[in-house]
Amino acid sequence: MQSMVMTETIWQRLLALRQGASSLASSSAAEDLYGPIAGARGAFVLAQVGQSLDGRIATPAGDARDVSGPDGLSHLHRCRALVDAVIVGVGTVRADDPKLSVRMVEGPAPVRVVVDCHAVLEGDESLFHDGGAPVIVLRSANAKGRPLPKAEVIRLQLKACGLDPKDMLDALAERHLHRVLVEGGARTIARFIDAGLVDRLHVAISPIIIGSGPSGITLPPIERLAGAHRPVTDVYSLGSDILFDCRLERRRASERQSEQVRMAHQA
Ligand SMILES: NC(=O)c1ccc[n+]([C@@H]2O[C@H](COP(=O)([O-])OP(=O)(O)OC[C@H]3O[C@@H](n4cnc5c(N)ncnc54)[C@H](OP(=O)(O)O)[C@@H]3O)[C@@H](O)[C@H]2O)c1
Repeated sequence: MQSMVMTETIWQRLLALRQGASSLASSSAAEDLYGPIAGARGAFVLAQVGQSLDGRIATPAGDARDVSGPDGLSHLHRCRALVDAVIVGVGTVRADDPKLSVRMVEGPAPVRVVVDCHAVLEGDESLFHDGGAPVIVLRSANAKGRPLPKAEVIRLQLKACGLDPKDMLDALAERHLHRVLVEGGARTIARFIDAGLVDRLHVAISPIIIGSGPSGITLPPIERLAGAHRPVTDVYSLGSDILFDCRLERRRASERQSEQVRMAHQA
């Protein structure tokens, strides 16, 4: 396990890399961890989960605000500052009313994207009124719902499995948003992993035991461990939290199509 120590110099180098500078001159644990995000060119998807020792991301009532310790939270804000867009599901917006800002670090704020398939957002949620980064809402083509203030609504085709994460990424890429952080909640992250579209998965574990509540990642059941994901993983001490930086493998389009058929049969 490496200790991740962030300094002002390293952070400025990472921000320069994010802006297009050539690769990092020196290597430290911080650059090993954040360099692949800042240096990604073209499509790149990072999913991040902040969870307890017992694998929970919130209480059963949906309280998730202090699951991560202070260093886990700084890590999350660094990740946001290094991507073009951050995606959350409507369940997270309703439970947390998040700002999805980068207030704990210096750096650009990503475009905020909410998956609101059935158009249940009211328009009075904080992110529509806080003057922060632009907001995009992804809805199915025929969902009704209220008009939303100061947000771009993108209509996507509703498929048997809901909205296809690939369609979401394509719509964002058309707007030059290529580096994407999928921040939660559990169901939104699961759909991206299940679709084989996640490059890196960050699991930040904080020394807290919640005992019940939703778990970080819930995928369709498998029978044997041979079918489990076993990503190549680096482990970092962030200070208050331990981070597992997992390299997931993207699946090819043909594999994704057969996956969609399977998901459609399960739905
Ligand atoms: N600790 C952490 O790192 C962390 C981070 C984020 C959130 N959280 C917690 O996680 C909880 C919320 O998680 P959650 O799993 O219940 O909700 P969620 O993932 O935030 O949102 C799920 C909802 O988003 C919509 N959605 C997402 N992907 C979709 C797709 N591909 N197609 C169609 N619809 C899609 C669906 O809405 P419809 O039902 O309208 O179809 C679905 O019900 C909250 O308690 C929050 O506090 C924890």
